[in-house]
Formats: sequence, structure tokens, C-alpha cells
Amino acid sequence: MGDAAGLAARRAALTALRAGDEDGTWSNRAVPAAIADLADARDRGFAAHLAYETLRWEGTLDAALSLVCSRPLAEVERPVHRVLRLGAVQLLVSDVPDRAAVDTSVALAREQVPRGRAKGAGGFVNGVLRALARQRHDLPWPSREDDPVAHLALTTGHPDWIVAELLERYDVERTRAILVADDVAPGVTLRAVGDRQTLIEELRAEGLEAVVGEVDEAVRVPGADPRRLDAVAAGRAVPQDEASMRVAHASGVRPGSSVLDLCAGPGGKATHLARLAGAVRGEPGPGGADEPPVVAVELHPHRAQLIRDAARSQRVAIDVRVGDATEPPLSPGETFDVVLVDAPCTGLGTGRRRPEVRWRRTPDDVDDLAALQRSLLSAAAARVAPGGQLTYAVCTWTGAETDGVADAFEASPAATGFTATGRRQLLPDRDDTDGMFIATWRRDGDR
Ligand SMILES: C[S@@+](CC[C@H](N)C(=O)[O-])C[C@H]1O[C@@H](n2cnc3c(N)ncnc32)[C@H](O)[C@@H]1O
Repeated sequence: MGDAAGLAARRAALTALRAGDEDGTWSNRAVPAAIADLADARDRGFAAHLAYETLRWEGTLDAALSLVCSRPLAEVERPVHRVLRLGAVQLLVSDVPDRAAVDTSVALAREQVPRGRAKGAGGFVNGVLRALARQRHDLPWPSREDDPVAHLALTTGHPDWIVAELLERYDVERTRAILVADDVAPGVTLRAVGDRQTLIEELRAEGLEAVVGEVDEAVRVPGADPRRLDAVAAGRAVPQDEASMRVAHASGVRPGSSVLDLCAGPGGKATHLARLAGAVRGEPGPGGADEPPVVAVELHPHRAQLIRDAARSQRVAIDVRVGDATEPPLSPGETFDVVLVDAPCTGLGTGRRRPEVRWRRTPDDVDDLAALQRSLLSAAAARVAPGGQLTYAVCTWTGAETDGVADAFEASPAATGFTATGRRQLLPDRDDTDGMFIATWRRDGDR
């Protein structure tokens, strides 16, 4: 890679980091947008790699930079701090020669500040990164025996509280395996909307490697860019992790089921449920009716619109209603065979594709979201028809969400007449999926 291309790629990575910092844009959007203008695929790959690794290793990079920085990092202006992180990731994580890492960082630092201060910013970044390059084989991280939480946090790039959270549920070896797996970007998985084999043949005809996944509709397409696939644009395939596909299969839906999805935006699971229920536009429904009722509730109007768009593209019939699922916009007494609460959660289980989630969430978020999930689950239980099934799913692994919410539900009056039928925590190390928790209950009676 030439000097100019190398600098442009690093500048693009910096743009993605800034979008996350300043506007809260998630990396799975910010990175593709920031690298789109780079002409060479290798430059795009390098820029994406740097951006994602910087986000993953933020805590470790800051800990290392603090050791060599002459002033507290909190006092370093934000744009220069971002350049330091980007430089540090090249020295500590990526296989980039020291000189290229330092020189490009100096050039970027000079661009980040008003012209009068460019020289000072460049000199500062030069000094810090050179000092880090000298010390990088000698970083004083605690040993696993002395402080397992800090050791795992610094050597896998996670905050202490998430490590401690996992250590409450798993031993040190398993915790390390989960955290290491959380640092590896997943391959692309598609849900085939129609016939899976036809989709595989279409993808192979485009020169892509496409193989079946474990779930019935899953197709793995390593190395593909889903945004560039005709099949995705035309609604014949949906980018979706297999853990999410498993939620629809765990819900007990079958052809003709009536379905209520209470937290439905942007519609990944609602459209899958509609397919499995047979609510396909232009095809007679399995129960004789044209379209079995699939109702999707979503709090935010713009996310409700995404469900409508997805339903239209995938040719499924969904009645989308904007409202608060704790008091759902339904007729009194209206019940369904299948009720899903795919609740708002800390989202730690999506860290492979959005690594910054680990730094954005706090332990307070866990408690607030667990409380919301408990109310959503109680409201959902009231809408399950006799013989129907209730499903609670969250893409996270904290104990207070997952099992804590399921236990609280089972101990509450809302669970009267329900029998637990399954609980499962999917995790990236063992299942090679997002970290998704799924719990199901059957309501007494005949369906
Ligand atoms: C985890 S996402 C659901 C993802 C969706 N099931 C899918 O597969 O595409 C949770 C959704 O719940 C919505 N939400 C949050 N609070 C809600 C509430 N009180 N009532 C209804 N929807 C809510 C959020 O806006 C978000 O779209």
C-alpha cells in the first residue's frame, strides 16, 4: 500500500470512529459509510480492520497510552485522542511497521487541529507513540492468578464489569473463550426467504461461496457484502444471524398460527414468523383464510416503517401497529397462538459485529433494561391464547436480563397457567452465533 493510500485508509477509519463518538452511529453503519469512497478493496479492508480493532481494544489501548502519555488522557482533546488510539492499535494489535504507524498518526493529528496548533499536536502524538513502541513488549498487565478480572479485561479488550458478569456464570476458561470469540467478526449469514437451494445457486452463479447453515433457512456466504447482493435488495434473502432465526423456530409458530410480535422493529423476526405462519401475500393461507393475522407492535414510528418496508419486500402480510408493548394497541381480550417479546436489551451478544457495544453499556443499563423486560413479558403473557406459546428473547448474556427476567416472570402472578418449555443461552464460542437468550412457556389449554 502506497503512503497516500495508507493515509487515506487510516483517515477513513478515523472518520468511522468520529461518527461513533460524536453521533452515536453504530460501527456496522459508520464503517461501511466511511470506507465507501476508497477505490481499492484492500484499502477498504485495511480501514475497516483498523476501525473495528480500535473499537474492540479501546480499553486496553487507553490503559497502554496512559502509561506513556505525559498528561491524563481525559485532558487530551478528543480528535487527538482518537488518533492516538488508532496509532496504538497499529502498534499493539495489527501487524503494522512502527514507522508507518507513527508517521501516519502524526500526519492525521496535524489535520485534526487548527493550523496554528498542527505542529504541537503532531509532536505530541509522535512522542507518545514512539514511547509506546518502545514499551509495548513490557506492558504491566496483571497476571491471571493475581487479578483474573483485570487480566481478562485487558487481554481480550472488554470492560471489567462485563468480565466479572461472565465470571459469575462461567469459569475462567469458558469466560476467556466467550470473550475471545466476541472479538472475531462473524461471517455473513442470510435467511433464504423462498427456496434455500435456489438462493444458493443464485449466489454461486455470482461467484460467491454459498453453503447451507444449521438452521433450515440459513445460507452462509463468507466474504460477501450483503449490501451489494441483488437477492437482498429484492427481498429473496435477509442478512440475519442464525441465533435470530432460531428465535422464530423456538416460538412454536406453524402454518396458520396467529402471531403477535411485541417489540418488532425493524422486522427481522416478524417477517420470518410471518413466513413460517404462511402469511405470504398472493398465496392462500394454510387455514383457508387469505392471510393469517401477524401483528407487529413497535414503539418508534421510524422502526415500524422499517417493518412495513421489510414485509413489502419479502411479500409477507403483517399488521404493523405503533405503540407501547407494555400497554399494547390491541382489542381487550385479543389473544394469539404465538407471542414473541424480542425485548430491548444491553445487546452484548452482538459484540462480534458492533464491538463498541461493550463500552457503551453500563451496569445501570442492565438493571433498567431488565425492569423494562419484566413489564414487557408480563404484558405479553396476557395475550397468549390457551394452548399458545410465549417466547422471551434478548441478544445478551447478563444474568439480570436473561435468567433473571425469566425467573422473575415465573415467580409472578402473570405466569399462572404457564409451563416452562425451554431456556437456552446461545454464545459465540460454542454456537458460533450472536449471544442470544431464548426462553419459552406454554399456556395451559388446547390450541
Ligand atoms: C431487540 S429490538 C427487536 C428486533 C426485532 N425483533 C427484529 O428481529 O428485527 C427491540 C425493539 O423494541 C422496540 N421497543 C422498545 N421499547 C418498546 C416498547 N415499550 N414497546 C414496543 N416496542 C419497544 C425498540 O424500538 C426495538 O425496535
